[in-house]
Amino acid sequence: MKVVRTAVELSDAIGRNESVHFVPTMGYLHDGHLSLIRAAARDANAGRPKGVVVVSSFVNPTQFNDPRDLKAYPRDEPRDIELARSAHCDVFFAPDVDTIYREGLSGTRVHVPGVSERWEGEFRPGHFDGVATVVAKLFHLVVPTVAYFGEKDWQQCRVIAKMVDDLDFPLSLKFCETVREPDGLAMSSRNARFRPEVRAKAPALYETLREGARAAAAGGDLRTIERGAEHALRVAGFEKVDYFAIVDERTLERTDSPTAGTRVIAAAWIGGVRLIDNVEVPV
Ligand code: PAJ
Repeated sequence: MKVVRTAVELSDAIGRNESVHFVPTMGYLHDGHLSLIRAAARDANAGRPKGVVVVSSFVNPTQFNDPRDLKAYPRDEPRDIELARSAHCDVFFAPDVDTIYREGLSGTRVHVPGVSERWEGEFRPGHFDGVATVVAKLFHLVVPTVAYFGEKDWQQCRVIAKMVDDLDFPLSLKFCETVREPDGLAMSSRNARFRPEVRAKAPALYETLREGARAAAAGGDLRTIERGAEHALRVAGFEKVDYFAIVDERTLERTDSPTAGTRVIAAAWIGGVRLIDNVEVPV
């Protein structure tokens, strides 16, 4: 595995590969990230000739609406390099901020209308413009054949899908299942911030999402289910529920009757940590 830091080193390391399988991350890798890298490696190995697996690790300043969150974001590059290697990454791209934002932080931004403006977009103004901008830049630098994203960040998947579609990026996207701790908590770099007594309560988010999905599939009134779930989360120890919503999985708009493409999405705070998660409605 090669570790590269500049655009020139990156394109030299990728060479003229037939297929490039790309996993963008912000580092501090866990099993969720590694499942994406392994999926990329499986696809790369299935190709003739074999493709190349590229992982980027870049804590993107433009997607943090809260500077304290950016400052507190955990980092451990030596560990990330070993983990990426173990998951069969070929090229580990870890640029610094000036490499990605040569133009400074006030350059051109990509805005994906509609789907980026709801939910996370409302609670984290500017967040998805930062995500779409950095992912567009990374796509231009890496030139992937396939890019891999986690369903854990469902709205992010839909924002990227719309950007790729609207701007004719010549690549395909794969969305991979959320990897969870044994008690159901979705893996996240932010889980490192939990105090132990709070950590024990955090799986209630996934439980409440699953309960909401089951109730929706059973024909309950969706707005009543949403309100009941918000109440259940507060009872379980969450101090604030930003949203709990049953939505169309493509547009992220609230839906009235669940179909095959319905998701339950939520964001809530516990012990000062903001968690997001989502599940499919099993219809
Ligand atoms: P980051 O939070 O590091 O996540 C990188 C990728 O890993 C994303 O596609 C995310 O959805 C996926 N992921 C995170 N936790 C997961 C889990 N428990 N199971 C499965 N996949 C999981 O998302 C970002 O970085 C950034 O916004 C990025 C796309 C890199 C742009 O800066």
